[in-house]
Amino acid sequence: MGSSEVAELVSLAGATAVVTGGGGGIGGGTSRLLAAAGATVVLNDIDAELAAVAVADIEAGGGSAVAVVGDIRDAEVVERLHATATEVAEGAVDVLVNNVGDYRPNGRFVETDDEQWEAQYEIQLRHVFRCTRAFLPEMQAVGRGAIVNVSTVEAFRGIPMNTAYSAFNAGISAFTRSLAVEVGRDGVRVNCIAPDMADTLQTPAEAMLRGRDPDLVGSWIPLGRWGQPSDYARAVLFLASDLSSFVTGSTLMVDGGTMAASGWYGRADGRGWTNLPDRP
Ligand SMILES: NC(=O)c1ccc[n+]([C@@H]2O[C@H](COP(=O)([O-])OP(=O)(O)OC[C@H]3O[C@@H](n4cnc5c(N)ncnc54)[C@H](O)[C@@H]3O)[C@@H](O)[C@H]2O)c1
Repeated sequence: MGSSEVAELVSLAGATAVVTGGGGGIGGGTSRLLAAAGATVVLNDIDAELAAVAVADIEAGGGSAVAVVGDIRDAEVVERLHATATEVAEGAVDVLVNNVGDYRPNGRFVETDDEQWEAQYEIQLRHVFRCTRAFLPEMQAVGRGAIVNVSTVEAFRGIPMNTAYSAFNAGISAFTRSLAVEVGRDGVRVNCIAPDMADTLQTPAEAMLRGRDPDLVGSWIPLGRWGQPSDYARAVLFLASDLSSFVTGSTLMVDGGTMAASGWYGRADGRGWTNLPDRP
């Protein structure tokens, strides 16, 4: 295989890609990278300004993008996104990235109420179902498509004070596996990424540090740094492109190694590791 054939594997030239929450953060990085790989990007965002900046950046880089502004929790916005994207694609879109989600702790489980659970369902999972149901039939009809969902490492390890978030994100990974099996023979692949430690609008590194010594980052994150939106976007591009032609139903950890370490912390002085954090 020559280098031009390798370049073709990662190319999305001629493809149309839909990204929810595609203005900022991981979604913003994803919109920009998929566009740089050649896709026409139809990005949804609740924030009109973030959406406009993303479209402008993509166009400035020679790419092509359209924004659909609105709250993806609303069925009407999903419908509008679907109508716009299928018009741009003149039929089935090639890639759907279900990225919207919200990491805001709900507090102690026993003190959470039904409304909070409903809200968690709406922001984490229901729009993933709705967007997938909207775009999937056309993908099946043409016999190709890649769906990439965004879950979290907290779907695989325990997170106190955010139990419903964890449960609905585990739902995203379970949905990914089950749907992948259901639609594999229709030529549609369904995969997922599970981020951790992203330096984004939702979890800025500075806020996560909250005055802690930045030298400690290497003790929490094996790769020794926060993730940037482009780090997660690369994993999405892999799962959206032909590079991952035989991958479906998978959730890929994109976490700088936190799940691999899973409870093991590098000592602050850099001398070895411990799973029993102690005072310095
Ligand atoms: N930040 C992390 O470390 C981290 C860790 C694990 C999982 N995740 C997941 O990654 C995804 C993206 O997170 P992020 O850190 O990039 O978030 P972010 O808040 O930095 O960016 C989210 C983007 O989506 C848009 N958005 C928010 N709510 C929306 C809605 N209802 N409808 C349409 N657009 C909406 C925002 O305007 C923004 O552009 C989420 O599903 C999140 O749960 C993030």
